[in-house]
Amino acid sequence: MRILLIAGAFNSLTQRVFAELTDGGHQVGVELVTRETPLLEAVRRHAPDLVVAPMLKTAVPREVWSAYTCLIVHPGPVGDRGPSSVDWAVHLGVDRWGVTVLQANDEMDAGDVWATAECPVPEVGKSDLYRNEIADAALAAVHSAVDRFASGAYRPRPQRSFTAAEKPGRVRPPLRQDARRIAWRTDPTATVVRTLRAADSQPGVRDELLGGTWFLHGGHPEDTLTGEPGALLATRCGAICRATADGAVWIPELRPPRTPGGPAPVKLPATLALGDRLPPLPEIPAPPEPWDGPPAQPGRPRTWADIRYREDGAVGFLRFSFPGGAMSTDHCHRLLAAYRHACTRPTSVLVLGGCRDFFSNGIHLNVIEAAPDPAEESWANINAMDDLVHAVLTTTDRLVVAALGGNAAAGGAMLALAADEVWCRSAVVLNPHYRLMGLYGSEYWTYTLPGRAGPEAAARLMDRALPVTAATGQRLGLVDRIIDCAPREFAAETARLAARLASAPACQPRIAAKKANRERDEARRPLAAYRSHELARMHSNFFDPDQPYHALRRAFVRKEPAAGTPAHLAAAGGIG
Ligand code: COA
Repeated sequence: MRILLIAGAFNSLTQRVFAELTDGGHQVGVELVTRETPLLEAVRRHAPDLVVAPMLKTAVPREVWSAYTCLIVHPGPVGDRGPSSVDWAVHLGVDRWGVTVLQANDEMDAGDVWATAECPVPEVGKSDLYRNEIADAALAAVHSAVDRFASGAYRPRPQRSFTAAEKPGRVRPPLRQDARRIAWRTDPTATVVRTLRAADSQPGVRDELLGGTWFLHGGHPEDTLTGEPGALLATRCGAICRATADGAVWIPELRPPRTPGGPAPVKLPATLALGDRLPPLPEIPAPPEPWDGPPAQPGRPRTWADIRYREDGAVGFLRFSFPGGAMSTDHCHRLLAAYRHACTRPTSVLVLGGCRDFFSNGIHLNVIEAAPDPAEESWANINAMDDLVHAVLTTTDRLVVAALGGNAAAGGAMLALAADEVWCRSAVVLNPHYRLMGLYGSEYWTYTLPGRAGPEAAARLMDRALPVTAATGQRLGLVDRIIDCAPREFAAETARLAARLASAPACQPRIAAKKANRERDEARRPLAAYRSHELARMHSNFFDPDQPYHALRRAFVRKEPAAGTPAHLAAAGGIG
């Protein structure tokens, strides 16, 4: 079928719908729309059989929905209406939510229902929920709606025909800052964490801190540290710890409010954002094997760490999770130190990643944007990423598995490719390219990507700059194993498979062969040669004022809306 996606942004859900429908053999086009887009004209140009809107904040005009069947993906159960559905799901602390695919008509979110899907709501931030459980439900509903439409026989159900039990949703207003306020003196940790998570990653919770107004982004419970409610207690790896009525929370990132006429401020690691305003506080490192599981586990107080290492027999697990998958120079240095430590341990398999949500999206564009000299910071960051990737590539005494519970892009995707095996949850979307940020790219991609996919496919991936599913990644040689499981099962499933890999008779011979392969490759062309070639190109991307990188980065981190459909997407679908 010819399917046109219309969306406000080519966001993660739209990317996944695009990539999965393309895999399914459909011809898929994309139009990014704003209120000003002449939508009928755009849709006519594509002449689609069906229009699908995975993430649309504006209404579809009558002249479009009356001429074409338009399916809207609404991230809420049947009957739910309003622009803050996922925020409400987290804010209310519900344990189940849903997605409804409905037909556009005159009334927003009120059209006939083509498909629905339910999902659990774990204790995670809103964006994590959206990219994982909600996205899984959305894709299930979209596939079934598309199949039903293709059958020609299906009649969507009017919402009024649903019983009360089948239609648990209701109209909900936008969740504004007034409803998100934290009462530090009286709110217990559970309430504070839920409030922070309902606003994570955007818009954050507006609050007063050290005499100024800040938006707080992200929140994790801390059971050991306590103090005067509202007081700052400690720092850890760029995050601040703040006391609640009955405990404390870790807040990883802060954003100042926008000044009138000024550019949109960027979200930064909290201690970096506060800078000199931060009073002297103890930097308290995470305990060994920090616990972030369910509350009230006897003897296991909860705390937060962005990097964790643990062992189970012959397998080491180096887990990391950075907001937005962005890895600053500091994140890279700390992860490299943890990686080096993991390599001193007597294991034969080392699993890198394995958490839910983003694996990595490469260098930290926000930290770079906020640096006194963004070109210098870009340079430091890419060198730190390269050092980390180099350590992975030159690990010859054990097998390294990159385990991607969530998406990876740019240098973050290349970090995964440095491992011996790349395992992905089936829902993962990969963006193995750099061009959209005006970068040539590094992370030894000129060694790993053609090595895995072959030179032609590597060049095509780089040039087309489109997202691919894990399944396509596997077909191209980028992915070795697909783990078809729910987000919450990924860590355990990875651990089970890694234990099997470590105990397989082939494990030790593979380690020996890997060492020999690395030596052979090094003799053919040293890793240093790949790195210096890539970094020469990156140096000019960063330091040549005529290069587009700085303007593209600024637009990305300041969230400037795209002016129409970018050329690489307009050319993507092969329809229209
Ligand atoms: N640096 C800083 N922040 C980043 C980031 C990066 N490299 N990559 C993603 N983020 C942030 C986004 O700003 C966004 O923040 P928000 O939640 O506060 O709005 C969050 O992570 C999620 O990203 P978003 O773009 O909303 O997710 P998506 O799934 O729709 O798209 C990408 C994912 C990776 C395609 C897109 O974020 C991207 O192009 N990132 C830049 C990749 C890159 O060029 N890296 C540098 C070269 S190595």
